[in-house]
Formats: sequence, C-alpha cells, structure tokens
Amino acid sequence: MPLSVHEPDAATLARSADKAAGELLAPPAPVQLPDVVPAPQRVEPDPAEDWLLSPDAVIVTSADPAALTVAAYLAELLRPATGYPLPVTDTTRPAATGGIALVLTGDDSLKDDASLNDDDGLGAEGYQLAVTRAGVTITAATATGLFHGVQTLRQLLPPTIESAVPVTERWMLPGGTITDAPRFPYRGAMLDVARHFFPVEDVLRVVDHLARYKLNHLHLHLTDDQGWRIAVDSWPRLSTVGGATEVGGGPGGHYTKADYRRIVSYAAARHVTVVPEIDLPGHTNSALVAYPELAPDKVAPPPYTGTEVGFSYVDPADERTYDFITDVLGEVAALTPGPWLHIGGDEAFKVKGEVYTGFVERTQRIVADTGKTVVGWHQLAPAAHVDGRVLQWWGTNGDDPATLEAVRRGARLILSPGNHAYLDMKYAPDTPVGQDWAGLIDVRRAYDWDPGSHVTGVADDAVLGVEAPLWTESVTSLAEIEFMLLPRLPAIAELGWSPRATHDWAGFRDRLAGHGRRWTAAGITFHRAPEVPWPVEGAGSAQPVRPQIPAQPGPDNAPVPSTDNP
Ligand code: ACM
Repeated sequence: MPLSVHEPDAATLARSADKAAGELLAPPAPVQLPDVVPAPQRVEPDPAEDWLLSPDAVIVTSADPAALTVAAYLAELLRPATGYPLPVTDTTRPAATGGIALVLTGDDSLKDDASLNDDDGLGAEGYQLAVTRAGVTITAATATGLFHGVQTLRQLLPPTIESAVPVTERWMLPGGTITDAPRFPYRGAMLDVARHFFPVEDVLRVVDHLARYKLNHLHLHLTDDQGWRIAVDSWPRLSTVGGATEVGGGPGGHYTKADYRRIVSYAAARHVTVVPEIDLPGHTNSALVAYPELAPDKVAPPPYTGTEVGFSYVDPADERTYDFITDVLGEVAALTPGPWLHIGGDEAFKVKGEVYTGFVERTQRIVADTGKTVVGWHQLAPAAHVDGRVLQWWGTNGDDPATLEAVRRGARLILSPGNHAYLDMKYAPDTPVGQDWAGLIDVRRAYDWDPGSHVTGVADDAVLGVEAPLWTESVTSLAEIEFMLLPRLPAIAELGWSPRATHDWAGFRDRLAGHGRRWTAAGITFHRAPEVPWPVEGAGSAQPVRPQIPAQPGPDNAPVPSTDNP
C-alpha cells in the first residue's frame, strides 16, 4: 500500500519511547506462576513448592537426541546470567536430585486429562511443567513440547535471567503445575525482507523472538517489486540483478542458498518452520528487471525503489513464465524442509478474472508437484480448491463471500487481519515508524479480537492459526523491527496459543508488563506502549546488568542497538 517513507533515527525512537512511558507505573513483583505469556491452558500454583535453582543444579533428560538438544538449549539459556555450570546429563535420574528434568514420554501418557483441549493429551506441542521443592520437571510427548515448556520455565525465573553476563540474583521459581497446549497449530510472524533487506543475523534474532512466545512459523516474504532475495541457480539474475535494490534506493541484497539453509536450520532448532513466499503474479518488478522475457511487453522495467503496489506482473500468457515458476518453486521447495510454499497472489490488479484464476490454478498445481502445500493471500479464493490449500486473510472487514466459499470447498485460513495483526501499522499517530492505511494498532487492538470468529461464517475448525506480518516499506533496521514487534507480537502469540477462556485485556496487560524488564535485560528494543503498566526499573529486585555484545547470536543475545530501554 502507498505510504510516505519515513526513517527515524535511534534518538527519535528513544524520544518516542520516553514520551510513551510515564503513566501506569508500578513496582516489579516477584514472578507468579500465572504470569506466563501466552497464557497457559491450566495453572495450579502451590506456593509451598517454590524452588531455588542452585549452583550445583543439573539438567537431566533421556538419551533421545531431540530431547538432549532441548536440554542443551536450556543450559545455554540459563548459564550466562546465573554463571552456573548446569551440566546436561542423559541419565534418567529423577528431578529429586535437585535439578531440571526434561521427560520425553513419546506417548499420550497424559491423555486421560479431560481438561486438555487436545483429545490426544498434550499433543504435538503441549507440555506439563511441575515445580516442586525437589526441582522442576517438564514432561511432553515431543521435543517441541519440551521446548515450549522451556520457554515457560524461562519466564518463571526473574527477568535478569535474560542478562548475557552473570547477575547476583535468587533464581527462585514459583511452585505449582502448568499444563499447556496450543489452541491453533499455526502461529507465526512474517518478515518482509524484500522492501528492505535484512542480514541473516537479524532474521535469526527474529526467530528467537518468535520462539520466546511459542510462535512456530516464520513466513519470509522473499520477493517483491523492490527486490528478489533468494538465490535461484536456474535463473541467477533474479538475485544478482533483481536483488540489488530496495525501497529508498539502498543496495538491497539477497540470501545465498547457504544463508537460507542457515535460517531454516536455526529456526528448526527452535521448533520454528520457515514458510517461503514467492509473490506471484504481481509484485514481480524485480524479476522483470532481471528477466524482461517474463514481462508482458518483453521490455525490462526500471528497478523500483518506491512503495506503490499493483503495477507489475509476470506474463500469464507466455509458457516461459510457467518454466520460470516451475524452476523457482522447485528450487525453493528443495531448500525448504517445512510443508508450506506461499505463492502470494495479492494485489495483482492488472491480471483479472479468468486470467488470474487460471494462473493461480496452474501455479497451485506446480506447488502440488513439488510435494508442498500451497498457501496464498486470500485473493487466491476464487481459484479452484487443491488439497490442503491455505488462505491468509489480511482484510480489514471480516465479510468476504469469496473467502467463505473457498472455506466451504475445503480451504483453511491463517488470520492476519490488517487492522489487528499488521505490525507495520503505527501504534499511535506519532509513532516514528510504520504506516496507517489499515488504522492505528495499539497493543489492545492487536489483542482484542478472536481468530476463531473473525471472518463471518468461518468457524474456528477452519482456522489453521494466526500470523503477524511485518511489512518493511518504512522499517529499515533490526531496532525498528523489534520496536514494531514488541510488545504487540506477544498479543498475537496469545491469540494463537491460549484458550479463548483466558482472554482478558486487563490480565494480559499486567502479565505483559513484566516482559519489559526481560527485554531490557536482553538488550531488545521495544515500544513502551502507554497502555501497559511497565514496572519501575530498579525497584524491588536485582538490577539488570547491561549485556555485553557477544560475537555471535546465541539464544536471544545477539548484538543490537537498544534504543527503547532506559
Ligand atoms: C498484502 O498486504 N498485500 C498482503
């Protein structure tokens, strides 16, 4: 969508943040069992069972390689701030020895628990976390469940656990039991790396933010008018020529196949699936610059560095276009272990009616031939159904007969309503980054909607999940990415994960407030949204130690300018 591009510097971001802070201040409280974001399915506090993580604690798990990997990740999370050795052992010693046990059941041992919303017990992503005076036990049927349990454990420790250097702290965990599983299987965020290009390290850092809030999909918008960001061996000029620009005229860039594999494997280690998008047939100016034979008039357009949409398209009447699509989608599918391939389909204003649906139907068949399941923006709706088809709803009015009809034919929906989930929208009129064509989205607006009933006539069993897209026409740096994501990303994460019965703005706002100190301790930029009662820094608990900048991004401690922190 059109917008005025606007690039605030770090000082402007900080000023805006300071202005937003101020009201609703409260002293930090010790972490309570129900403070977790996203809200767990069931929380049973037992203050008599608080547990202190001690310097000689061990992390115990089964010899299963996936469980050991989660245990090693947990140890890496806890070692920097605690300074404790936290050895990982693969014996099956009980947690009663005074440590953290990760128990992989590999079966449905908790299936008799009728209160869980998943008939198969904890299911593919659920976990149970029990804190007793003897230690902590996280139980799950899968390594993914253990990983989500580890994220919960992390949030139950004092915020200074996020420090990259040792902190003097009592590492107390509140006693009790959390039993948890997600409402929807697909919970994601999208990063537009086409309008502005972001280096691999920035993408890895975003993956860490997703993992923190139990989001399990990273949708990468890899191609658009302003840049083509993924190397394709059979059409090499796409990235070398088509990738050499971005909004505002910067040098752009692209991911080599090795870069992309690095993102995919870093994400996989955090139980996040990468969803690559090749936007077709519109949003393709960068491809036409590289290969004019794909253009309807066979003439190369000039590179585009503005922010209009809807003017470009690959020639739907030329067979060469389908060779291009087959080659590109084939190579991207081969690089991508996850099941999804996103083909865009939005704002192809110059490809209308039967030409558009014919193009989409043929492209959907090409996707099916790669073995992947097609995902596209909801403009794909009028095209014929194919097995498993998923439409991503980005409308701002939940009434759409075409989408409803596609759902009747079997499509499922990912909910990304532009006026609630588009995290490139400004928080307020004076937000120094972002757009406002879909309205202003403060934290409450990001939170106060229900994916299960948002599109008229679509029941929640047709909803695969939710996704928060971050378009980057006006977003130019990692600090700005974080400023737009936080604190709204956790709101979308909660809509995707938590049972609807837990939905409560006042409660969410209070739980979210505690995360400001975590982000500060981790050196993460965020917007001090005025409607969230951020605690007063320094009152009550140990002071966070400012992290030093490590050489490599580890779990959540990559280097970043921290503009919105005190
Ligand atoms: C979109 O915002 N054009 C999907």
